[in-house]
Amino acid sequence: MAIALAKKLAGLPTGNVLLIGSSGTGKTTLMRAVEAFLASQSDLAERSTQIRVHANVLADEAESGRPGAGVIRRLLERGREQLGLDAPVDRIVEQARDGIVFVDEIDKIRSVVGGRPHLAGIRAQEALLTLMENASVPVELPKWAGGRTLAFDAAALWFVGAGAFEGLYDAVHDRVTLGRDRGALQPTTIVEGGTVHQETRFELGDWLRNEDLFEYGMSPQFLSRFDSVILLNDLGVDDLVQIFLESPESGLEQSRAYFRHHGAELAVSPAAVRRIAEEAASRPRMGARALKEVFRRIVRDSEFDPARAARSGTVVVDLPEVEAALGAEPKAD
Ligand SMILES: Nc1ncnc2c1ncn2[C@@H]1O[C@H](COP(=O)(O)OP(=O)(O)OP(=O)(O)O)[C@@H](O)[C@H]1O
Ligand SMILES: [Mg+2]
Repeated sequence: MAIALAKKLAGLPTGNVLLIGSSGTGKTTLMRAVEAFLASQSDLAERSTQIRVHANVLADEAESGRPGAGVIRRLLERGREQLGLDAPVDRIVEQARDGIVFVDEIDKIRSVVGGRPHLAGIRAQEALLTLMENASVPVELPKWAGGRTLAFDAAALWFVGAGAFEGLYDAVHDRVTLGRDRGALQPTTIVEGGTVHQETRFELGDWLRNEDLFEYGMSPQFLSRFDSVILLNDLGVDDLVQIFLESPESGLEQSRAYFRHHGAELAVSPAAVRRIAEEAASRPRMGARALKEVFRRIVRDSEFDPARAARSGTVVVDLPEVEAALGAEPKAD
């Protein structure tokens, strides 16, 4: 992703990227990080325009006709925001041509759902495909740009798609254990600390083939326009510890600010952080989102009565507090 972006920013040809990763592993976060980076560099912001669209929206637009035109319209509007309302239309078009298009939740435009054709998905894929493979796409310019029809040169657009592809993991696992390629996944012999045992390890990246994505509902032509398919790793306990401590969205900073507002400090011990991360890691299909939920359960009572916390000056969250909060309620799942 970094290399593809660096090439794009250097004005060199770069391949479209498809990100596949479980829910909560940071796909949208990655897209937003790129946006924030580009926005923070004024020379880049003047050269390239980026937009982020939900594939669902493209599917809705596909129902009513022209989702491809919608993408270009968004690029033009974004370019106008960046360059200012008085910027010449040609300059805005030029900027939009060099655009970056993030398509989030791209797995929502499957061509099949539950074994039946999904028309909106098919049309949305076709529309994107048109933009991805045609150098020139006719578009009607918005009113503010004169309204004329223009041949928009889409050759330099860069696409990054992302999706959780829920069910893909199981489908591929089934293929290599029970299905067509039954027996392909064999246990490996592992020698560890003087003992020998057999273990079957399944990693999606070892087995994922294009055909699995075709079957999932990404048409071969559409998929072939992505030069690289990147699989995001599931987040481990160490990753979650880091995200909990560093991400502004983990809940820790909000809680700290809230107690500070009431005159108390929040002290979370390293052992407590690790336990929170372990608990979050055990929640299936939530990724880093689980951190917030786990942490909220722990601080909820103190947050309800901040005056009491303020009297002691510090809200302490150590291992016993975490265990008590986690043990007090049955797990949500
Ligand atoms: N790798 C990561 N680094 C930092 N923060 C992360 C990471 N992954 C997830 N997060 C945090 O977890 C939350 C969910 O992440 P995000 O929305 O990026 O997940 P996603 O992969 O887009 O999931 P979904 O498939 O459900 O859309 C965000 O608050 C984000 O800050
Ligand atoms: Mg997301």
